[in-house]
Amino acid sequence: MFNIDPYAKRIYIRDAQDHDKYSCSNIVRAVLNDKHWQPYENNIGYGGTLNLVAIQNEQVVGFATTLLPPLPSFKPRGMYDVLRPYIGFVGRLPQDKGQSIGMSLVEEVCQRLLEKGAHRNVFLECENGLKTYYERLGFRYIGPEKVASEHNVQVARGLYRRQCLRHDAMSDFLT
Ligand SMILES: CC(C)(COP(=O)(O)OP(=O)(O)OC[C@H]1O[C@@H](n2cnc3c(N)ncnc32)[C@H](O)[C@@H]1OP(=O)(O)O)[C@@H](O)C(=O)NCCC(=O)NCCS
Repeated sequence: MFNIDPYAKRIYIRDAQDHDKYSCSNIVRAVLNDKHWQPYENNIGYGGTLNLVAIQNEQVVGFATTLLPPLPSFKPRGMYDVLRPYIGFVGRLPQDKGQSIGMSLVEEVCQRLLEKGAHRNVFLECENGLKTYYERLGFRYIGPEKVASEHNVQVARGLYRRQCLRHDAMSDFLT
């Protein structure tokens, strides 16, 4: 049998639900080695996080989790409380490359952040191998000194920051 549904391959992004945990866990395990592995899927349903999945053919093919800014009354205890929103994980199934799944997830995260109240910055840390990738998505490296002066928090190594702008403003930002 061949697939006659022309839309079946279409990928869309939706909020992750409890029943997606198993699939998201499989993605995290498939793409992160033991050193970097964390049970990111446990963020699903956890307050203060934004969890999105990419769906294709009714299957979860990608997952992203983001720590949202804490309430103003919250007393920050460390860098991950201050440098928020913070994208903790973005990944897709290894066999599904070349379909913009990672990019779609990151763009949806930024869109949702804008809708939630125009957060100016979104942060992430990434391995050397992914620097070019995130730079193409509009993230810029900021070193520890700049993090300290602009966000008043000490970090051992730098991290990446993107301004969440509307799409029409994005092209100006990237030039
Ligand atoms: C990083 C990741 C999410 C990218 O997702 P993706 O769906 O493959 O990427 P996209 O389709 O959005 O982007 C594709 C483009 O980015 C490029 N790209 C993909 N991975 C890249 C990498 N590691 N370094 C540089 N460029 C990369 C592709 O070559 C492609 O470029 P092209 O459009 O010129 O052909 C995916 O590779 C992944 O799951 N990696 C493992 C998990 C991981 O390390 N996550 C980050 C840590 S939390």
